Amino acid sequence: MTAVTVSAASNIALVKYWGKSDTSTNRPATASLSIGLEDLRTETTLTLKDGEDSINGLDGIAATRLIQFLDSVRQRFDVDAAFAVNTANNFPTGSGLASSASGFAAVTLGLDRLLNLNLDQQELTRLARTGSGSAARSVFGGFNQIVLDEDAYAEHLYGADHWPLEIVVAIATEAGKAIGSTAAMQLSEGTSPYYDAWLATHADDMHSARQALADRNFEQLAEISEHNCLKMHATIMTSQPAVHYWLPATVAVMHEVVRLRENGVPAFFTIDAGSQVKVVCEPGYGQQVESVINEVPGVVKTIRTRLGGEPHITQP
Ligand code: PMV
Repeated sequence: MTAVTVSAASNIALVKYWGKSDTSTNRPATASLSIGLEDLRTETTLTLKDGEDSINGLDGIAATRLIQFLDSVRQRFDVDAAFAVNTANNFPTGSGLASSASGFAAVTLGLDRLLNLNLDQQELTRLARTGSGSAARSVFGGFNQIVLDEDAYAEHLYGADHWPLEIVVAIATEAGKAIGSTAAMQLSEGTSPYYDAWLATHADDMHSARQALADRNFEQLAEISEHNCLKMHATIMTSQPAVHYWLPATVAVMHEVVRLRENGVPAFFTIDAGSQVKVVCEPGYGQQVESVINEVPGVVKTIRTRLGGEPHITQP
Protein backbone atom coordinates (compact mmCIF):
# COMPACT_ATOMS: atom_id res chain seq x y z
CA MET A 1 0.00 0.00 0.00
CA THR A 2 1.40 3.41 -0.90
CA ALA A 3 -1.52 5.64 0.07
CA VAL A 4 -4.42 5.75 2.48
CA THR A 5 -7.31 8.15 3.11
CA VAL A 6 -8.86 8.63 6.52
CA SER A 7 -11.91 10.63 7.49
CA ALA A 8 -11.99 11.38 11.22
CA ALA A 9 -14.53 13.49 13.10
CA SER A 10 -14.07 16.28 15.56
CA ASN A 11 -15.26 15.85 19.12
CA ILE A 12 -16.32 18.11 21.97
CA ALA A 13 -15.63 17.53 25.61
CA LEU A 14 -18.53 17.72 28.04
CA VAL A 15 -16.04 17.35 30.89
CA LYS A 16 -12.92 19.11 29.69
CA TYR A 17 -9.24 18.61 29.82
CA TRP A 18 -7.45 21.84 30.63
CA GLY A 19 -3.81 21.81 31.70
CA LYS A 20 -0.98 19.42 30.91
CA SER A 21 1.15 17.50 33.35
CA ASP A 22 3.73 17.00 30.58
CA THR A 23 3.82 19.42 27.67
CA SER A 24 6.31 17.41 25.60
CA THR A 25 3.99 14.38 25.42
CA ASN A 26 0.69 16.27 25.82
CA ARG A 27 -0.21 14.30 28.92
CA PRO A 28 -3.34 16.04 30.19
CA ALA A 29 -3.56 17.13 33.80
CA THR A 30 -7.20 16.02 33.93
CA ALA A 31 -9.33 13.26 32.48
CA SER A 32 -12.11 14.23 30.04
CA LEU A 33 -15.32 12.94 28.50
CA SER A 34 -16.45 13.69 24.96
CA ILE A 35 -18.96 13.18 22.18
CA GLY A 36 -18.06 12.74 18.51
CA LEU A 37 -19.49 15.14 15.90
CA GLU A 38 -20.57 13.07 12.92
CA ASP A 39 -20.58 15.84 10.31
CA LEU A 40 -17.51 17.88 11.35
CA ARG A 41 -14.73 15.98 9.67
CA THR A 42 -11.14 16.10 8.50
CA GLU A 43 -10.25 14.04 5.44
CA THR A 44 -6.56 13.27 5.12
CA THR A 45 -4.72 11.34 2.42
CA LEU A 46 -1.20 10.13 3.20
CA THR A 47 1.02 8.99 0.34
CA LEU A 48 4.51 7.56 0.69
CA LYS A 49 7.11 9.57 -1.19
CA ASP A 50 10.84 10.12 -1.49
CA GLY A 51 12.69 13.15 -0.18
CA GLU A 52 10.93 15.50 2.22
CA ASP A 53 7.39 15.63 3.56
CA SER A 54 4.96 17.82 1.67
CA ILE A 55 1.91 19.24 3.42
CA ASN A 56 -1.12 20.50 1.54
CA GLY A 57 -4.04 22.01 3.47
CA LEU A 58 -2.24 23.29 6.57
CA ASP A 59 0.23 26.11 7.01
CA GLY A 60 2.13 27.97 9.72
CA ILE A 61 2.17 26.45 13.17
CA ALA A 62 -0.33 23.71 12.25
CA ALA A 63 1.98 22.43 9.47
CA THR A 64 5.00 22.59 11.80
CA ARG A 65 3.14 20.58 14.46
CA LEU A 66 2.24 17.95 11.89
CA ILE A 67 5.84 17.60 10.68
CA GLN A 68 7.04 17.29 14.28
CA PHE A 69 4.48 14.53 14.77
CA LEU A 70 5.64 12.71 11.60
CA ASP A 71 9.25 13.03 12.83
CA SER A 72 8.32 11.52 16.19
CA VAL A 73 6.61 8.57 14.46
CA ARG A 74 9.63 8.01 12.17
CA GLN A 75 11.92 8.01 15.16
CA ARG A 76 9.78 5.84 17.42
CA PHE A 77 9.04 3.16 14.79
CA ASP A 78 12.37 3.41 13.01
CA VAL A 79 10.76 4.36 9.72
CA ASP A 80 12.68 5.85 6.83
CA ALA A 81 9.91 7.37 4.72
CA ALA A 82 8.50 10.73 3.79
CA PHE A 83 4.84 11.53 3.27
CA ALA A 84 2.72 13.70 1.02
CA VAL A 85 -0.10 14.84 3.28
CA ASN A 86 -3.29 16.26 1.76
CA THR A 87 -5.78 17.35 4.34
CA ALA A 88 -9.02 19.32 4.40
CA ASN A 89 -11.65 20.15 7.02
CA ASN A 90 -15.31 20.63 6.17
CA PHE A 91 -15.63 23.20 9.01
CA PRO A 92 -13.74 26.35 10.17
CA THR A 93 -10.17 25.59 11.27
CA GLY A 94 -8.33 26.80 14.37
CA SER A 95 -11.26 28.52 16.02
CA GLY A 96 -12.24 26.20 18.85
CA LEU A 97 -13.88 23.48 16.79
CA ALA A 98 -11.19 20.89 17.52
CA SER A 99 -9.74 20.63 14.03
CA SER A 100 -6.54 19.39 15.68
CA ALA A 101 -8.53 16.53 17.24
CA SER A 102 -9.93 15.23 13.96
CA GLY A 103 -6.70 16.09 12.13
CA PHE A 104 -4.31 14.19 14.39
CA ALA A 105 -6.70 11.26 14.73
CA ALA A 106 -6.85 10.99 10.92
CA VAL A 107 -3.06 11.12 10.55
CA THR A 108 -2.53 8.58 13.34
CA LEU A 109 -4.98 6.08 11.86
CA GLY A 110 -3.50 6.63 8.40
CA LEU A 111 0.10 6.10 9.52
CA ASP A 112 -0.85 2.95 11.40
CA ARG A 113 -2.37 1.52 8.21
CA LEU A 114 0.24 2.79 5.76
CA LEU A 115 3.25 1.69 7.82
CA ASN A 116 1.64 -1.55 9.08
CA LEU A 117 2.25 -0.51 12.68
CA ASN A 118 -0.67 -2.68 13.86
CA LEU A 119 -1.14 -0.66 17.04
CA ASP A 120 -4.03 -1.69 19.24
CA GLN A 121 -6.83 0.79 19.93
CA GLN A 122 -5.34 2.01 23.19
CA GLU A 123 -1.91 2.57 21.63
CA LEU A 124 -3.51 4.45 18.76
CA THR A 125 -5.16 6.83 21.21
CA ARG A 126 -1.90 7.37 23.10
CA LEU A 127 -0.12 8.18 19.85
CA ALA A 128 -2.87 10.53 18.60
CA ARG A 129 -2.73 12.31 21.96
CA THR A 130 0.92 13.22 21.44
CA GLY A 131 -0.25 15.24 18.42
CA SER A 132 -3.16 16.92 20.21
CA GLY A 133 -4.66 16.00 23.57
CA SER A 134 -8.23 15.88 22.33
CA ALA A 135 -7.25 13.78 19.25
CA ALA A 136 -7.14 10.65 21.40
CA ARG A 137 -10.94 10.89 21.70
CA SER A 138 -11.46 11.13 17.91
CA VAL A 139 -9.98 7.66 17.32
CA PHE A 140 -13.51 6.39 18.10
CA GLY A 141 -16.99 7.72 17.42
CA GLY A 142 -19.70 8.09 20.07
CA PHE A 143 -19.00 8.74 23.76
CA ASN A 144 -15.39 8.50 24.90
CA GLN A 145 -13.24 9.37 27.86
CA ILE A 146 -9.58 10.01 28.46
CA VAL A 147 -8.17 8.01 31.33
CA LEU A 148 -4.98 8.99 33.12
CA ASP A 149 -2.50 6.25 33.98
CA GLU A 150 1.25 6.96 34.12
CA ASP A 151 0.52 8.22 30.59
CA ALA A 152 -3.01 8.85 29.22
CA TYR A 153 -5.25 7.07 26.73
CA ALA A 154 -8.81 7.25 25.43
CA GLU A 155 -11.43 4.64 26.11
CA HIS A 156 -14.65 4.09 24.19
CA LEU A 157 -17.68 4.27 26.49
CA TYR A 158 -20.75 4.01 24.23
CA GLY A 159 -21.66 4.12 20.57
CA ALA A 160 -23.86 6.92 19.25
CA ASP A 161 -26.91 4.66 19.41
CA HIS A 162 -26.69 4.67 23.23
CA TRP A 163 -28.08 8.22 23.18
CA PRO A 164 -28.29 9.89 19.75
CA LEU A 165 -28.05 13.48 20.99
CA GLU A 166 -27.94 16.32 18.48
CA ILE A 167 -25.50 19.21 18.43
CA VAL A 168 -25.84 22.74 17.07
CA VAL A 169 -22.60 24.67 16.73
CA ALA A 170 -23.02 28.45 16.86
CA ILE A 171 -20.16 30.15 15.02
CA ALA A 172 -19.44 33.51 16.67
CA THR A 173 -16.50 34.28 14.36
CA GLU A 174 -14.70 32.51 11.54
CA ALA A 175 -11.42 34.21 12.45
CA GLY A 176 -8.74 32.07 14.09
CA LYS A 177 -8.36 32.33 17.84
CA ALA A 178 -5.89 34.78 19.35
CA ILE A 179 -4.08 32.26 21.52
CA GLY A 180 -3.77 28.51 21.06
CA SER A 181 -4.85 26.05 23.72
CA THR A 182 -1.36 24.91 24.73
CA ALA A 183 -0.14 28.46 25.42
CA ALA A 184 -3.39 29.36 27.18
CA MET A 185 -3.16 26.23 29.34
CA GLN A 186 0.37 27.16 30.38
CA LEU A 187 -0.85 30.62 31.40
CA SER A 188 -3.68 29.10 33.45
CA GLU A 189 -1.35 26.61 35.12
CA GLY A 190 1.15 29.28 36.05
CA THR A 191 -1.04 32.23 36.97
CA SER A 192 -4.74 31.50 37.59
CA PRO A 193 -5.66 31.33 41.28
CA TYR A 194 -8.48 28.99 40.23
CA TYR A 195 -6.30 26.39 38.53
CA ASP A 196 -5.80 24.28 41.68
CA ALA A 197 -9.54 24.31 42.36
CA TRP A 198 -10.13 23.22 38.75
CA LEU A 199 -7.89 20.20 39.30
CA ALA A 200 -9.25 19.40 42.76
CA THR A 201 -12.91 19.27 41.65
CA HIS A 202 -12.44 17.53 38.31
CA ALA A 203 -12.78 13.89 39.34
CA ASP A 204 -16.24 14.58 40.80
CA ASP A 205 -17.37 16.10 37.50
CA MET A 206 -16.16 13.04 35.59
CA HIS A 207 -17.97 10.74 37.97
CA SER A 208 -21.22 12.68 37.75
CA ALA A 209 -21.09 12.93 33.94
CA ARG A 210 -20.39 9.21 33.52
CA GLN A 211 -23.36 8.46 35.76
CA ALA A 212 -25.60 10.83 33.78
CA LEU A 213 -24.55 9.08 30.57
CA ALA A 214 -25.16 5.62 31.97
CA ASP A 215 -28.65 6.72 33.11
CA ARG A 216 -29.30 8.90 30.03
CA ASN A 217 -30.18 11.61 32.53
CA PHE A 218 -30.19 14.76 30.39
CA GLU A 219 -30.80 17.18 33.25
CA GLN A 220 -27.79 15.88 35.16
CA LEU A 221 -25.60 15.86 32.06
CA ALA A 222 -26.64 19.44 31.28
CA GLU A 223 -25.91 20.65 34.78
CA ILE A 224 -22.48 19.06 35.05
CA SER A 225 -21.41 19.95 31.50
CA GLU A 226 -22.24 23.65 31.88
CA HIS A 227 -20.66 23.76 35.32
CA ASN A 228 -17.45 22.13 34.09
CA CYS A 229 -17.30 24.43 31.06
CA LEU A 230 -17.78 27.55 33.18
CA LYS A 231 -15.12 26.41 35.65
CA MET A 232 -12.63 25.93 32.83
CA HIS A 233 -13.42 29.36 31.38
CA ALA A 234 -13.21 31.02 34.81
CA THR A 235 -9.71 29.55 35.06
CA ILE A 236 -8.83 30.78 31.57
CA MET A 237 -10.16 34.32 32.16
CA THR A 238 -8.35 34.69 35.45
CA SER A 239 -4.94 33.95 33.95
CA GLN A 240 -2.46 36.82 33.99
CA PRO A 241 -2.51 38.25 31.42
CA ALA A 242 -6.18 37.36 30.98
CA VAL A 243 -7.27 35.28 28.00
CA HIS A 244 -10.57 36.31 26.40
CA TYR A 245 -12.10 33.63 24.20
CA TRP A 246 -15.71 34.77 24.50
CA LEU A 247 -17.34 37.30 22.20
CA PRO A 248 -20.68 39.05 22.74
CA ALA A 249 -22.35 36.39 20.56
CA THR A 250 -20.88 33.65 22.77
CA VAL A 251 -22.60 35.11 25.83
CA ALA A 252 -25.81 35.82 23.92
CA VAL A 253 -26.04 32.15 22.88
CA MET A 254 -25.45 31.00 26.45
CA HIS A 255 -28.37 33.17 27.62
CA GLU A 256 -30.57 31.88 24.81
CA VAL A 257 -29.84 28.27 25.77
CA VAL A 258 -30.79 28.92 29.38
CA ARG A 259 -34.01 30.55 28.16
CA LEU A 260 -34.77 27.59 25.89
CA ARG A 261 -34.31 25.23 28.80
CA GLU A 262 -36.61 27.33 31.00
CA ASN A 263 -39.19 26.92 28.24
CA GLY A 264 -38.88 23.15 28.34
CA VAL A 265 -36.39 22.55 25.50
CA PRO A 266 -33.76 20.03 26.65
CA ALA A 267 -30.54 21.79 25.62
CA PHE A 268 -27.26 22.84 27.23
CA PHE A 269 -24.16 24.69 26.10
CA THR A 270 -20.47 23.99 26.16
CA ILE A 271 -17.53 26.06 24.87
CA ASP A 272 -13.96 25.02 24.17
CA ALA A 273 -10.88 27.20 23.72
CA GLY A 274 -12.58 29.64 21.37
CA SER A 275 -15.73 31.68 20.98
CA GLN A 276 -18.03 29.12 19.34
CA VAL A 277 -20.82 27.63 21.43
CA LYS A 278 -21.84 24.02 21.05
CA VAL A 279 -25.44 23.42 22.03
CA VAL A 280 -26.25 19.81 22.86
CA CYS A 281 -29.88 18.73 22.81
CA GLU A 282 -32.02 15.67 23.19
CA PRO A 283 -32.82 13.67 20.04
CA GLY A 284 -35.44 15.41 17.90
CA TYR A 285 -34.77 18.97 19.11
CA GLY A 286 -31.86 19.88 16.82
CA GLN A 287 -33.87 21.68 14.15
CA GLN A 288 -35.84 23.78 16.65
CA VAL A 289 -32.69 24.71 18.57
CA GLU A 290 -30.84 25.61 15.38
CA SER A 291 -33.60 27.91 14.17
CA VAL A 292 -33.56 29.80 17.50
CA ILE A 293 -29.76 29.99 17.77
CA ASN A 294 -29.50 31.23 14.17
CA GLU A 295 -31.40 34.37 15.17
CA VAL A 296 -29.12 35.28 18.08
CA PRO A 297 -27.37 38.59 17.29
CA GLY A 298 -23.75 38.07 16.27
CA VAL A 299 -24.08 34.43 15.29
CA VAL A 300 -22.40 34.15 11.89
CA LYS A 301 -23.80 30.74 11.10
CA THR A 302 -24.76 27.44 12.65
CA ILE A 303 -23.82 23.85 11.92
CA ARG A 304 -26.09 21.03 13.01
CA THR A 305 -24.85 17.49 13.43
CA ARG A 306 -25.72 14.13 14.85
CA LEU A 307 -23.61 12.58 17.53
CA GLY A 308 -21.33 10.00 15.91
CA GLY A 309 -17.92 10.32 14.37
CA GLU A 310 -16.73 6.81 13.62
CA PRO A 311 -13.54 7.18 11.53
CA HIS A 312 -13.50 5.78 7.97
CA ILE A 313 -10.35 4.41 6.35
CA THR A 314 -10.11 3.86 2.61
CA GLN A 315 -7.42 3.31 0.02
CA PRO A 316 -7.70 5.81 -2.81
O1 PMV B 1 -6.55 19.23 22.05
P1 PMV B 1 -5.91 20.42 22.64
O2 PMV B 1 -4.58 20.09 23.24
O3 PMV B 1 -5.86 21.57 21.70
O4 PMV B 1 -6.81 20.94 23.90
C1 PMV B 1 -8.16 21.27 23.80
C2 PMV B 1 -8.77 21.44 25.15
C3 PMV B 1 -10.25 21.76 25.15
O5 PMV B 1 -10.81 21.64 23.86
C4 PMV B 1 -10.49 23.18 25.61
C5 PMV B 1 -10.97 20.82 26.10
C6 PMV B 1 -11.07 19.41 25.64
O6 PMV B 1 -11.06 18.52 26.51
O7 PMV B 1 -11.19 19.16 24.43
